[in-house]
Amino acid sequence: MDVRHQIAGPAALAAAKVDGLVLVIAGESADAALAPPLSSLLADAVADGDLVLKKGKTLFLHRPAGVEARRLVFSVAADDSDKAFRAALLAGLHAMKSSGARTIGIALASAGLLGESRAEATALAVAEATYLYRHSKPSAPAAWAPTEVTLYCGKTDAKAVQQGLRRGAAIAGGVTLARELANRPGNQCTPTWLAQQAKKVGKGLDLEVEVLDRKAIEKLGMGSFLAVARGSDEPPRFIVARYQGAAKSEPPIVLVGKGITFDTGGISIKPSGEMDEMKFDMGGAASVLGALQAVATLKPRLNLVCLVPTCENMPSGKAVKPGDVVTSMSGQTIEVLNTDAEGRLILCDALTYAERFKPKVVVDVATLTGACVVALGHHHSGLFTADDGIAARMHAASRAALDPCWRMPLDEEYDDGLKSNFADMANIGGRPGGAITAAMFLRRFTGKYPWAHLDIAGTAWKSGPSKGATGRPVGLLVHFVLSHAR
Ligand code: BES
Ligand code: MN
Ligand code: ZN
Repeated sequence: MDVRHQIAGPAALAAAKVDGLVLVIAGESADAALAPPLSSLLADAVADGDLVLKKGKTLFLHRPAGVEARRLVFSVAADDSDKAFRAALLAGLHAMKSSGARTIGIALASAGLLGESRAEATALAVAEATYLYRHSKPSAPAAWAPTEVTLYCGKTDAKAVQQGLRRGAAIAGGVTLARELANRPGNQCTPTWLAQQAKKVGKGLDLEVEVLDRKAIEKLGMGSFLAVARGSDEPPRFIVARYQGAAKSEPPIVLVGKGITFDTGGISIKPSGEMDEMKFDMGGAASVLGALQAVATLKPRLNLVCLVPTCENMPSGKAVKPGDVVTSMSGQTIEVLNTDAEGRLILCDALTYAERFKPKVVVDVATLTGACVVALGHHHSGLFTADDGIAARMHAASRAALDPCWRMPLDEEYDDGLKSNFADMANIGGRPGGAITAAMFLRRFTGKYPWAHLDIAGTAWKSGPSKGATGRPVGLLVHFVLSHAR
C-alpha cells in the first residue's frame, strides 16, 4: 500500500475526505498544533479523562462532531522524536484497524515539521500495520487493506515528504519481502526455493541473478560451505545477485547473507525446545535480498552485489562430524569442533568469493550466535568492524532508519580461542564472548577489503505469541548502501 501525500494545514484536517483520520500528538506535554474542532475534541477528551497524554495512549472516536472523517484516532507519542512518532503512528493505525475505515488520513499534530524521515517512517508503519502472514494459513482473516492512505503535510515540507515516502515505500517493500521469505516454513523455504525467489526479484527489477548449484560450488572449492550442506538431502545453492547503477569500473558494495534454511545443529544437535525458530536462520539472506530489492527500486548511482550461500544444517550418515577438518575456499583449514557453529562455515567461503569483486566494502548479515542475543537482547543488532569509518556510517544509517545496531569489540585477544591442534583454526572459541569469537573467525577471511559483520540473531525475528520475522535489518542496510551513492 503506497502512501500519498497531500498539502493540508491544521485548519483543513477536519474537512479531510477520508473514512478514518489518525492524529499523532507529538509529546506528552505537547501543545498540539490543531485547529477547531479537532483542538476542542482533544482538549475535551483530556479534560474528561478519556485520553491521558502519556506515550502509547490512544483514543478512538466514532463520528466526532464537526469532523468529516467518521472515525478519529488520537495517538500520543512519547516526545517529538522520529522514533516516538513511528511508535505512536503504529499504535494509532492498530486502533483504526478493526474499524470499517478503508481510506485513511494521517497527520502530525505538532508545530514541528513533518519532514523526510517521518514520511519514511509513515510508509514503514503503514506496511507494518497491514502485514499479515497468510501463505500457509488459509484460515487467517484477510489482512487489513486500506484502499488509500494519505499523509497530510504543510506546503513547505511537501518536497521532503515526497522523498521520504518514496524511500519508505521501497524499504517497506524490502522489509515485507524479507518477512515473507523468513516466515515461510523450512519445508517450503528450501535453498532451491530461496534461489528461485532471488531470480524472481531480479526479473522484476532488471538485475543479474546467477544461481550456482552443488557442482559449481565444488568447482570453486568451497569446502567449508559444502561440509555444512553434506548432511542434507536438499541441495545447496549459492546466489549471486547484482544491481548496476554506476559504471562497471565502480567498485561495488557487497552484502553477504547467511542462508541456513533450517538449523538443527547437525550432529551437535540442538535441544528440541523452540527448534522450530531455526527456520528463521536464513534471516540474513532474507534481509540482503530485501535490501537489494529496495535499492534496485530506488536506482541510486552505485553498484551492489548480494551473495547468499544457502543450505540446510542436518544430521545424517553423511553429515560433517565434530573433529572433521575441512578446507575452505581460501585454502585455510578448519577443524569443525561444533557442527552447530555452521553459519560461519558457510559465510567464510562467501567472504572469500567476495574478493573477486574488488569491493568498496563488504557487509555480512547473519543470525550467527545465541551469545549475541545474550549480549544485546532484541533491540540492537550486533555490529562488528575494525574500521571506524564504516562503524560511523553504519551508526548514522541505523539512526536514520530507526533500525538500531551497537558496536562490539574485535580485539586481537579474542582470536586466541580459535586455536586448533589439527587445522589452521577451530570453528568455535568457547562460551565467553561467543558473538565476538564468531566475528573473529569471519575476520580471518576478510583481509582483502574493508568489512563489517552484523549479528542479527536477536533482531531478525520475534518469539512468543507474536512469533514472526521482523524484516530487520533491511532499513539499516538500505540506508547504509544509499550513503555511498554519488
Ligand atoms: N543459528 C544459530 C544462532 C542462534 C541461536 C540464533 C539461537 C538465534 C537464536 C547458530 O548457527 C548457532 O547455532 N550458533 C551456536 C554457536 C556455538 C555452537 C558456538 C550458538 O549460538 O549456540
Ligand atoms: Mn547453528
Ligand atoms: Zn545457524
